[in-house]
Amino acid sequence: MILVTGATGNLGKATINSLLNKGIAVNNITALVRDKTKAAEFKSKGIQVKVGDYEDFGSLKSAFQGVDKLLLISSSSDIANRFEQHKNVINAAKETDVKHIIYTSFDMKNLQQSIMGKEVQYHAHTAAYLKQIAVPYTLMDNTMYADMIPFLSGKDILNNGISIPAGDGKTPFLPITEMAEANAVVLTTQGHENKEYIIAAETAFSFAEIAHLLSDITGKTIAYYQPKVSSYIAQLVQEGFSEDDAAYLARFAGAIAKGEFDTNKSDVKQLLGRSPIGLKDFLRTIYSK
Ligand SMILES: NC(=O)c1ccc[n+]([C@@H]2O[C@H](COP(=O)([O-])OP(=O)(O)OC[C@H]3O[C@@H](n4cnc5c(N)ncnc54)[C@H](OP(=O)(O)O)[C@@H]3O)[C@@H](O)[C@H]2O)c1
Repeated sequence: MILVTGATGNLGKATINSLLNKGIAVNNITALVRDKTKAAEFKSKGIQVKVGDYEDFGSLKSAFQGVDKLLLISSSSDIANRFEQHKNVINAAKETDVKHIIYTSFDMKNLQQSIMGKEVQYHAHTAAYLKQIAVPYTLMDNTMYADMIPFLSGKDILNNGISIPAGDGKTPFLPITEMAEANAVVLTTQGHENKEYIIAAETAFSFAEIAHLLSDITGKTIAYYQPKVSSYIAQLVQEGFSEDDAAYLARFAGAIAKGEFDTNKSDVKQLLGRSPIGLKDFLRTIYSK
């Protein structure tokens, strides 16, 4: 039995779709959700649904009975408590004899020394804990989602240009669907125990280069502006982000500017058996509609 946590989120849903596309039977897949009202789509497909919260150890232990492989998708709630949440999942998996835990970590040059501090350090703590807990693990070090580019770049970028204080820093953005397929490969094939994979594109792009790609795609000149951090935060708030989320995204922009995501390594081709979709093709699917 394969269990996917965070099943109602972007990566969890896409991973379950990839498992189904690989022909994994619905009765071999369990979706862990914390709000069962969000589980109708899984139930209609015949996928098993278990309710569990990373904060509630008992709920995790009962959800993990009979599970062989567990994909722990990193939490999106309570950033200060994420390592404790992940520890609950890992401890519950160990106590219920889960055979293999796969964790979605984050691909940065140095999680411990990032300017994002505690906002990314919990990935390093979770990875270290997994290594010491003596259950076979796999680390999927995900880069930034290519799907984040529209959120980071500002409103109506085809008319306004890209606006983000990200300097010349390059990021090997990869679409969520490709990360999901890599998860599905690790969940359904052998030989991934105690390995760490870099889930990133082979080529990294700066936002200036992304502006060029978009200019090619659209035939319009798309400019790249670098507002001050305070103006960038105001821009994101105007787009509907909360002050906190806007400041958080601005710190991501700062990490991009410092080249913290430009790790220059990728294991995606090896896992997928093909090159992942390139950034230009991905952007074309969004911006040439
Ligand atoms: N690489 C990147 O660029 C990037 C970007 C954004 C986020 N991330 C990280 O990658 C993770 C997956 O990304 P995503 O886009 O799939 O995020 P997402 O759409 O926000 O999904 C997060 C999932 O985690 C679940 N969750 C949150 N807190 C939980 C808890 N206490 N107990 C059980 N489940 C909980 C959510 O459940 P609900 O549906 O009930 O909220 C949801 O299913 C995120 O959680 C975040 O840590 C990475």
